[in-house]
Amino acid sequence: MTKMRLRGFENAPGQRHISADDRYLYHREAPTLRLVVIGTGTMGQEHMRVAALLGRAKIHGIYDSQPLSMDMAEANFRPLQAEALVRYKDLASACADPAADALLICTPNYTHFEVLQTAMASGKPIFLEKPMATDLQHAAAIVRASDSYPAFIQIGLQYRYKPQYVEAFAEALTQGSLGAIKTISVSEHRPPFLDKVDQWNKFERLSGGTLVEKCCHYFDLINLLAQGRPQRIYATGGQAVNFLDFQRNGVRSDIDDHAFVNIDYDNGVRASFTLNMFCPDFSEELIVVGDAGRLKATEEHDIHRASSAVASLSLRRGEHGVSKSVNLSYPRAIEASGHHGSTYFEHIALMDRLEGQHVDSATPMQGMWAMIVASAAQQSLADAQAVDVEAFIAANELTELLS
Ligand SMILES: NC(=O)c1ccc[n+]([C@@H]2O[C@H](COP(=O)([O-])OP(=O)(O)OC[C@H]3O[C@@H](n4cnc5c(N)ncnc54)[C@H](O)[C@@H]3O)[C@@H](O)[C@H]2O)c1
Repeated sequence: MTKMRLRGFENAPGQRHISADDRYLYHREAPTLRLVVIGTGTMGQEHMRVAALLGRAKIHGIYDSQPLSMDMAEANFRPLQAEALVRYKDLASACADPAADALLICTPNYTHFEVLQTAMASGKPIFLEKPMATDLQHAAAIVRASDSYPAFIQIGLQYRYKPQYVEAFAEALTQGSLGAIKTISVSEHRPPFLDKVDQWNKFERLSGGTLVEKCCHYFDLINLLAQGRPQRIYATGGQAVNFLDFQRNGVRSDIDDHAFVNIDYDNGVRASFTLNMFCPDFSEELIVVGDAGRLKATEEHDIHRASSAVASLSLRRGEHGVSKSVNLSYPRAIEASGHHGSTYFEHIALMDRLEGQHVDSATPMQGMWAMIVASAAQQSLADAQAVDVEAFIAANELTELLS
């Protein structure tokens, strides 16, 4: 049986008089796994924080090409881990350290492919942030290389672990509460892309484009729910408000800030995705309708009130069965560690895999399919025409890989 964890008590000042000998519920095994984080910006630091909270791995070392990022990561992490971090002088030494059990690549999208080449020379398990690459050729090369790689490569598509999507999958896929799924609609309304080191997310060349960079998460969710192969994609969108006057080194930002995407799957499922990135707050909505019910899953986060995000799920089954509406949450400390707790549960999958268990987590092939939908949508948006996905796959010489 898994021992109950009462994190609020185990760390409370009023419980510090409980000696090591008396700690049973509060006892934690010392972590045995050691992680190296490459790229210690926003997401690299989230992984460090989550690893410390989960307590199954130590952060052994860090590498970042910008010293300020390593300084800040070290300073922010000092209260979370007593043991000092190794600061590597270059990427090769970070990847080759025999003390490390796994490498986490959290650098900007345009660096993923190159950093991964050095990381794969180690033969170690690798966690690679999403999107796996900025273009389909590099994504395909990663899928091919992962097939013969001696260890696993896990992709950072952790929205699957957000509470509202965990519950939506349980109802729609495991329980079959909706009957046969027919339509899926997803939307995200949120503020603009945040500032980044060298502002890589303001340019399609460096990020892969908005639908690849940000929306690969949602295309992954839609692919999982549709359980089919995308056939036809039509998208419209553009850059209406954000970064219209933004330039770097004389180059103007070309990043889309809104889009509407329609996807038809080969099993008859139809999906739509809506993005708007000039809203004051964050909100996500998923509606799945089958021949026996409708499910709505939402997340609302009012950043201006600094309140925590609120997730909910409602299921309407009419005369087919029970309907319900519930609020969903993880423990506050877990939600606060990043992405409404989803990164924490992504780390559980990562730790389980490092310990040799067979668990589901995002594979390079699933990362690739999310990129196919995103890239086809971006092409549709640019050409103002629907994209036939098989022709798109053939034009990108991916037919054999994806057959
Ligand atoms: N899974 C998610 O929900 C999620 C959320 C945010 C970001 N991300 C992904 O995480 C990655 C990093 O994003 P971020 O928001 O942390 O960006 P960031 O700009 O805050 O941090 C990136 C860091 O990588 C460093 N870096 C750049 N090139 C490097 C190189 N060649 N070698 C080592 N370090 C290098 C930068 O100096 C910077 O410190 C991106 O791929 C992004 O798409 C994922």
